[in-house]
Amino acid sequence: WRAVKLRPRRRPWRRAGNRVVAQASGYKVAILGAAGGIGQPLSLLVKMSPLVSALHLYDIANVDGVTADLGHCNTPAKVAGFTGKEELAGCLAGVDVVVIPAGVPRKPGMTRDDLFGINAGIVRELVEAVADNAPAALVHVISNPVNSTVPIAAEVLKRKGVYDPRKLFGVTTLDVVRANTFVAEMKGLPLADVDVPVVGGHAAATILPLLSKARPKTAFTDEEVEALTRRIQNAGTEVVEAKAKAGGGSATLSMAYAAARFLEASLRGLDGDADVYECSYVQCQAVPELPFFACRVKLGRDGVEEVAAAGAELRGLTEFEARALEALKPQLKKSIDKGVAYAQQQP
Ligand code: NAI
Repeated sequence: WRAVKLRPRRRPWRRAGNRVVAQASGYKVAILGAAGGIGQPLSLLVKMSPLVSALHLYDIANVDGVTADLGHCNTPAKVAGFTGKEELAGCLAGVDVVVIPAGVPRKPGMTRDDLFGINAGIVRELVEAVADNAPAALVHVISNPVNSTVPIAAEVLKRKGVYDPRKLFGVTTLDVVRANTFVAEMKGLPLADVDVPVVGGHAAATILPLLSKARPKTAFTDEEVEALTRRIQNAGTEVVEAKAKAGGGSATLSMAYAAARFLEASLRGLDGDADVYECSYVQCQAVPELPFFACRVKLGRDGVEEVAAAGAELRGLTEFEARALEALKPQLKKSIDKGVAYAQQQP
């Protein structure tokens, strides 16, 4: 398996077995929360993707300026802006992928779970609109706490009768991006070659980098494993604290990069590329007592193509990793249950 890289140019053809076939004409992508700290740089990166023919930007504020600004870039994707609930249906009609970075970010001292009170309602409302207007779309949830917002999204889609677990993703790519960067820096490896699977969830100790499965195969001392694991788990807080003096916020640029990488991988999967693998927080059986778990999945024409093999990297863990996996289970279970209970309580 290999890391997915953003491609500068798109071939007008692709291979399907022995045949060469024409590429599809491009995909429609909607970003909900497009005028925010993540939304803006993410929209720019998506505007640069040769796989995207239409880019729909939705926010409750300031979307017109972002739309006008991006619309002047001479790349093929056609940009359209939508604002206010009454325009949400139009934004979502016919889209292939919906990316959701809407919601409040952390301030210093806050955990991701502290965002639940506000972001749970935002995600619920937006996913209801997705169910009504783009029921077949892939949904990428960025809004935190991802450990709970993805189960909320699943419940909303179930209630609307359109839930397909292959198409719902919590975006945990930033954890992989960080792990790759920190390992490459520590070991002096070429950045583009490093790939570290990160499993579990997307909050503090639920983020579990599997350094023993890093590619290329790399030896770490126990101290290095502990230091790297702690840094990867706390990297989000590192950014929150560094930004505190200048107006606050959490990771936006690296998150936009990570979300663009995950989107590109999903679109390549939809487009029929073979061998597209990414870690993502999805419904799977990797850990039987956890209905949602971040693990490496194969992306294909209908979203997650191989859920069954998703837990493969959980075999042969080191003692450190096995202990960390046991320790994260109750915390992740609590966050999943909280999301499910919230969604089920809604009228
Ligand atoms: P931000 O506050 O800069 O932007 C959020 C945007 O969402 C704003 O433009 C706001 O107007 C919009 N918004 C709020 N309610 C909305 C609604 N009902 N419909 C549409 N748009 C709405 O926040 P930022 O920094 O962009 O972060 C967004 C979310 O992403 C936060 O929840 C943050 O915790 C999360 N995040 C997730 C990461 C991950 O790895 N999954 C990493 C970093 C942040």
